[in-house]
Amino acid sequence: MQHNNSPIPDGGAPTRNRPFGLDLREPFTHLDGFDGHQQRRLSALRGQFADEESYDRLVAGDPLVYEVYEMHRPKIAGELLSGISIIHPGQVGDEFYMTKGHFHTVRATSEIYYCLHGRGYLLMQTEEGDWAAEEFYPGRVVYVPPHWAHRSVNTGKDDDLVTFFSYPANAGHDYATIEQRGFRKLIVSKNGSAVIVENPRWLAGDGGR
Ligand code: F6R
Ligand code: ZN
Repeated sequence: MQHNNSPIPDGGAPTRNRPFGLDLREPFTHLDGFDGHQQRRLSALRGQFADEESYDRLVAGDPLVYEVYEMHRPKIAGELLSGISIIHPGQVGDEFYMTKGHFHTVRATSEIYYCLHGRGYLLMQTEEGDWAAEEFYPGRVVYVPPHWAHRSVNTGKDDDLVTFFSYPANAGHDYATIEQRGFRKLIVSKNGSAVIVENPRWLAGDGGR
C-alpha cells in the first residue's frame, strides 16, 4: 500500500492524493487505516432519550455510546467522506443506544451505509414529518436520500452495531434541528423485541415553510 501524503489547502491535514484501498474485516477494533476517531458519550445526547429519569441516573457515569472513525478528505464537492460508526449495545430505560442523528446542512446531499456487524435500524425522517426505518444486519446496504435526517440505533443485546458510511464531502451536519425537535419515532425494547413507537415529545416542523 503506497500513500502519498501531502498538506491539503482547506484544512492543513495530511491526505492521500493517490488511489488507495483499506481492509475492513472483523474484528473492528484496530481501524488503523482511518485518520480520525471521535467518541460520543451519553452526555452528548442530553434531551434525546425519552426516559429522563433513567438518563439522569446513567449520565453520572457518562458511558461511551458510540464511536466514529473517519477518513479525512477536503470538504469540497466532488470528494466523498467515509468511515465506520460503531454503536455500542445499551439502553436508556427501554430505548436502545443510538447516534445523535442529523440532517445534512446541504439538504440535497445523500448518504449510503453498509452494515458490517450487528443488528439495528437506520431511522430516517424528513422535515415534513415523513419517516422510515430500514433494518441493519451484516451485508445490508441502506440508502439515505437527500433531505432525510438519519440516526443509527443498535438493537443488539450485547453486540456492537458496525456500519461503513459514505457521503458527499460538502454535506455538513445540522444537529440543531434534531436536538430541538427530536425524531418522530423511538426504537425500544418490548418483551425482548425491538419495536418502533411514537415519540410523544417529537415537535413537528413546518418543513421550512
Ligand atoms: C455522516 C453520517 C455518519 C454519522 C455517524 C455518527 O454524515 O451520517 O457518519 O456522522 O454515524 O452519527 P452522528 O453524526 O449523528 O453523531
Ligand atoms: Zn449523515
